[in-house]
Amino acid sequence: MSAIKYPVIIVNFKIYIQSVGRKGLELAKIAEKVSKETGVCIGVAPQTPDIRLIAENTEIPVFAQHIDPLPPGRGTGAVLPEAVKEAGAIGTLINHSEKRLRLADIDECVKRAREVGLISLVCTNTPEVTYATAALGPDIIAYEPPELIGTGIPVSKAKPEAVTAALELVRKINPGLPVLCGAGITTGEDVKKALELGTRGVLLASGVVKAKDPYKVLLDMANSCL
Ligand code: G3P
Repeated sequence: MSAIKYPVIIVNFKIYIQSVGRKGLELAKIAEKVSKETGVCIGVAPQTPDIRLIAENTEIPVFAQHIDPLPPGRGTGAVLPEAVKEAGAIGTLINHSEKRLRLADIDECVKRAREVGLISLVCTNTPEVTYATAALGPDIIAYEPPELIGTGIPVSKAKPEAVTAALELVRKINPGLPVLCGAGITTGEDVKKALELGTRGVLLASGVVKAKDPYKVLLDMANSCL
């Protein structure tokens, strides 16, 4: 799978126990099922050791959760962009709030991602950081206010003005750059509202990964994109 279609829903598996290994594959299969049933693009970002398992057994876009801005060689423990690509990911998150990088490193990660053919999805925590990130020319930005992450309080409803501000700032630099939003997104309503604000989709985690019935939640979300 190589392309992203908008609107897009990307499920970040984080390091939730519900998404490790085989369970992660099951979750990815659910995402694939909903995507096939609705025609809505649903991607997943599993933990690094699970990228190959999921990429080889599903047809949905798989993102890494992180890459390091390093060239091949010395760098024990780092996540090499080439390795992520080789494992089957089509893209990577960069600078997630739970894995923050300095601006210079974000810049390098975006360049390394491009060099190896990975879609760069840079997460940002404020409208201002979103503006600065747009200047780095990533493929996608996901604006996520950290204080709402994991709370179930949806950014699209709790902070619509911040989402709009982020979108306006990005437009000034690169009007075509797709912006997603995330944090607290748990229902189809939340997704709908995010799209109404002008985003091209959502990046989310706990609302699906920790749901009793992830299929039901994802289906509701995907139907809200139609
Ligand atoms: O990357 C997605 C994210 O940080 C939002 O998390 O659990 O609030 O959907 P959550």
